[in-house]
Amino acid sequence: MITPISRVGAHVGTTVTLGGWLYNSRSSGKLHFLQVRDGTGLMQCVVSKADVPEADFDLAGRLTQESSVYVTGIVREDKRAPGGYELTVQSLQAIQIAVDYPITPKEHGPDFLLDRRHLWIRSRKQHAVLSVRHQIIRAIRNYFDERGFVCFDAPMFTPNAVEGTTTLFPVEYFGSKVYLTQSGQLYGEAGAMAFGKVYVFGPVFRAEKSKTRKHLTEFWMIEPEVAFLDLDQDMDLIEDFLVEVVGRVLEASQEDLKILERDTAPLERVQKPFPRVTYTEAARLLDGKTAFKYGDDFGAPDEEALVANFDRPVLVHRWPAEVKAFYMKRDESDPTLAKGVDCIAPEGYGEIVGGGERETSLEELERRIAEHQLPKQFFEWYLDLRRYGTVPHAGFGLGLERTVSWICGLKHVRESIPFPRMMYRMEP
Ligand code: 4AD
Ligand code: MG
Repeated sequence: MITPISRVGAHVGTTVTLGGWLYNSRSSGKLHFLQVRDGTGLMQCVVSKADVPEADFDLAGRLTQESSVYVTGIVREDKRAPGGYELTVQSLQAIQIAVDYPITPKEHGPDFLLDRRHLWIRSRKQHAVLSVRHQIIRAIRNYFDERGFVCFDAPMFTPNAVEGTTTLFPVEYFGSKVYLTQSGQLYGEAGAMAFGKVYVFGPVFRAEKSKTRKHLTEFWMIEPEVAFLDLDQDMDLIEDFLVEVVGRVLEASQEDLKILERDTAPLERVQKPFPRVTYTEAARLLDGKTAFKYGDDFGAPDEEALVANFDRPVLVHRWPAEVKAFYMKRDESDPTLAKGVDCIAPEGYGEIVGGGERETSLEELERRIAEHQLPKQFFEWYLDLRRYGTVPHAGFGLGLERTVSWICGLKHVRESIPFPRMMYRMEP
């Protein structure tokens, strides 16, 4: 039976067998020190000439980086060892000797590493990032599951656009053209009318032609949608959700955040209340600081200049209707404004959430669909939600990879997902 490295603490003084890969090694005469990783941890395995058959000792000296092995030995407590335990090896078996593993402890460029992403994920930092990603996903699901939201899956193939027509990926579908979904929101709205509170969680696709640190062409979005919720309550939900997710991840991922050398002080400040500024107030804060003009969407420099005024995520609400999608409800006191909200993360990580209150009027939506020149026949099902018992409702979408980048402190979103898809990257 194989013992995971993360569980060796329960076996001190007894013999266990590990299954893993050689991460690193060094030798000094009659001793080989093998660092073995198995995905759950890293363990120093000490092979002494005196303790093992000669063939095993020789093998320990020949093992190369990422060779796969079974190692049997006695678990010893050792405060100085990484992980706190060490293995006194009794026998060693190679499953395969890896020849010329391409990712060595020296520095490699990003393209070299991305070409070898299938191997790069074995290295310590990438392993830590993807472990944090896992904890973020868990925290997200727990948050909604514990509060009575129903997990509601949206399709990936859709006939219609959600977030504008410029970033659609067309797909040939038995002789007709459909698109990969940009957001599950419209389907989430149908779910909210059936279940009250739902969340859609899945991959979404955008043909982003920009090469930035924040854009992927395939990314994951968590999209709660709630009946009888208005914009202010939507902002309460965003705030409560983010505080809880960041708090839980700080607890669950302490070790990984240390490996990533993430300064957690800014994350610990993610507490209620978040500053809430209208778009108009944000425009005033930006005045003269960047090239921003009233009516623009925020660019990265604008986001950075804005968050510099605060010590936690900022909620920007009530946007000029032209920069927002067709489905947004207009502000009752100023119909040029849409009741949308963006949450901008601190430290330059940019917009992590977009959401808002949805238009409830059938006639108003029909007008907007015409204005945006969207093919009405594909929205008839969506309009049915207004024809048959329309109610106030709201929701939002959190970009998972931007959230992972922010919490891990990554420079580029490409490291926040196992296999990134970008304009110039489809492989591996
Ligand atoms: O602001 P967006 O476009 O909002 C929507 O799609 C709404 N339908 C969501 C809703 O209300 N249910 O996208 C939401 C979030 C952004 O705030 C950002 O975090 C992320 O998705 N995002 C991207 N992440 C990585 N790469 C891209 N190309 C992204 N585009 C958006
Ligand atoms: Mg947005």
